[in-house]
Amino acid sequence: MEKSSTSSGGQSGSNPIFKPPYIHQAEISPVFDLPAQRAYLSDKYDLAPSPELAASMDDIYQRMARVVSPVDWAIYAPYVKAINDLKAERNAVILGHNYMTPEIFHGISDFGGDSLQLAIKATEVKEDVIVQCGVHFMAETSKILSPNKTVLIPDMEAGCSLAESITAEGIAEMRKQYPGAPVVTYVNTTAEVKAASDICCTSSNAAQIVAAQDSHTVIMTPDQYLAQNVARDVPQKNVVWWEGSCIVHEQYSASDLRDFREWNPGTRLIAHPECPPDVVAEADFSGSTSGIIKYVTDEKPEKALLITECSMASNIADELPEVDFVGPCNMCPYMKKITLEKVLYSLDTMTGQVEVDADVAEKARLSVQRMIDLSRQLGL
Ligand code: 13P
Ligand code: SF4
Repeated sequence: MEKSSTSSGGQSGSNPIFKPPYIHQAEISPVFDLPAQRAYLSDKYDLAPSPELAASMDDIYQRMARVVSPVDWAIYAPYVKAINDLKAERNAVILGHNYMTPEIFHGISDFGGDSLQLAIKATEVKEDVIVQCGVHFMAETSKILSPNKTVLIPDMEAGCSLAESITAEGIAEMRKQYPGAPVVTYVNTTAEVKAASDICCTSSNAAQIVAAQDSHTVIMTPDQYLAQNVARDVPQKNVVWWEGSCIVHEQYSASDLRDFREWNPGTRLIAHPECPPDVVAEADFSGSTSGIIKYVTDEKPEKALLITECSMASNIADELPEVDFVGPCNMCPYMKKITLEKVLYSLDTMTGQVEVDADVAEKARLSVQRMIDLSRQLGL
């Protein structure tokens, strides 16, 4: 895919046919074979829907009762119990991204959060095993930060369109085009790309990380829209970018937002910064997934449209009964590859172990650690 230049920032690079490492790992060790896994699990666990078990776990259900029906909860409860029991046996901890479905986010996750919060949590947990309920780059980030731990991803094919859009060669091309400019890379990338970069960022600290660079020109990869949103917020810098995008957030258009506002007056529109800049400009607020939670929690608007992945609203609906979450959302097909069934299978059989080459991990760790350190220093 050839990248072209734009007048607003300038970026370049070509993206060779690229198979991210998680695809290789999945080829070597396929972790998901539905019929075989189901047969294995049903031999070992009683996973039949159980209203009785569901009732006995009502404290957990109450965290998602607004969005999960009692019938569905009776289906999920046996898996939730099996996973929570197994966690103790395996000395495991589950990190759940805000885009996980509610039964994963509220039912089995020990810690939930955005990409930055989960990356920091991975450095703090004491357990031997981390199960990453999120996508592959998040599991890789945990492994980079905790090389001695076993990190599991319940489905190796839980990828990300941003991570798939760039290679280390792409970073080298950008450096050639903008000599001396630091490379700030979004955490939604492979370890190789992080290793080739100077510092990472997430959507919650991108503007501050770019502003803190010494150079006037700053290269941002791989999300063109996050970069353009940062360029608007940090006008003192010349931000140039790679042309990757998130398949979930790029689908929103500013005219959709204008129409929605006209037809649903009084709704607060809240957008993730992976959305195109004209969408963000049309919104009342833009922030990372944890920024969105904070905004809605503080503001408690009567009606809110979250311009992001569908599970975001589902996961906060019960904590905020006074807010009516309205309107359409987009589903991330990668995030939705993670299911209770796959988590149970992965933790039971310890399949889906994420490995990162030691040299690559060491260099990637520097980029991630620089981000964590700078974020702390900036009080983020
Ligand atoms: P944050 O949780 O950092 O906002 O990231 C959103 C996302 O798209 C992760 O893939
Ligand atoms: Fe990647 Fe977008 Fe899915 Fe996040 S929501 S994992 S950025 S494709």
